[in-house]
Amino acid sequence: MQRGQPARPEPLSGHPRYEKIKDLNSGTFGFVQLARDKLTGETWAVKFIERGDKITKYVEREIINHRCLVHPHIVQFREVFLTPTHLCIVMEYAPGGDMFEYVVKKNGLREDEARWFFQQLIVGLDYCHRMGVVNRDIKLENTLLDSSPRPLVKICDFGYSKHEKFQSAPGSRVGTPAYLAPEVILTTKGKTYDGKIADIWSCGVMLYVMLVGAYPFERPEDKHDNQKLQKMIQRILHVDYHIPPSVRASDDCKDLLSKILVADPAKRITIDGIYNHRWYLKGLPPGVREMNERVQPPPEGLQSVEEVTRLVEEARRVGVGAPGYVNPVETDEYIDDAMDNMYDEGSLDYND
Ligand code: ADE
Repeated sequence: MQRGQPARPEPLSGHPRYEKIKDLNSGTFGFVQLARDKLTGETWAVKFIERGDKITKYVEREIINHRCLVHPHIVQFREVFLTPTHLCIVMEYAPGGDMFEYVVKKNGLREDEARWFFQQLIVGLDYCHRMGVVNRDIKLENTLLDSSPRPLVKICDFGYSKHEKFQSAPGSRVGTPAYLAPEVILTTKGKTYDGKIADIWSCGVMLYVMLVGAYPFERPEDKHDNQKLQKMIQRILHVDYHIPPSVRASDDCKDLLSKILVADPAKRITIDGIYNHRWYLKGLPPGVREMNERVQPPPEGLQSVEEVTRLVEEARRVGVGAPGYVNPVETDEYIDDAMDNMYDEGSLDYND
């Protein structure tokens, strides 16, 4: 039980297949537990989302898109099932925690270590893009680690993802403000943006945070919440970031960052450009890039799309209401408000 909160009934109690081992973490979407498969003894992470209104189109896309990805740098999807109260997503357990905790604990990473993680992140993201999936929420918190001595990166969250074949082109402003690309911030109703190029921007933000231990477009002197967001948005649009002199970063590293954090998506470096950049190539194990040219077969016994869709629909229909839920699209309204205020103050002119 968490301090000050009533105990919730355990959703796995009495489940024929999975038993809870411990709580892992929780967020606006729901919570994640470590569970054991009683049949095989294997451990899995299970994400619980309350049935009813919380089963949004984002949840459905998350599952459908995650389901088709098989890659060493992506947490493996296993299956979905229902309990009387929750929709449950079973996936590979990444025991090393998330990269946010890791970077905070180390107060920023040395350049070599940042490169090791960044190389893997790009290979994992390149695979998603080749499979037609844009992530739209690349950030340290959505990147987990395994327990190897030199930890391996596992992208874990596809809650805002879109598939280029099965879903419309990205046009809405979703994601986490500190990681949003300028063209995502500036998107308006009816306009679309290239989700792959926007994902690359977010990888640049991640690289900066790994190196510096702080966000590139946030300043400690920004106090008040709304003002903080407005100022951050202005800095993103003007690509106003600096690497503090106390942070040791090579010229090659700064060069790559400056080619990723480019406001005009047409001028931003592509994944191919990153693959060929000198900083990225240093110490890259041979054959890493080629790994993505071999398409992995789906795991044996993978649930069909029809089965997954049926379960999601059932979870939506038979619901238990819960107060206090924050709908993901609110990111959009949140930024709209901040943008309106900025224009009112005349403080921003993108065409400057
Ligand atoms: N938290 C969220 N998803 C997780 C996973 N797959 N492994 C470990 N912790 C997690």
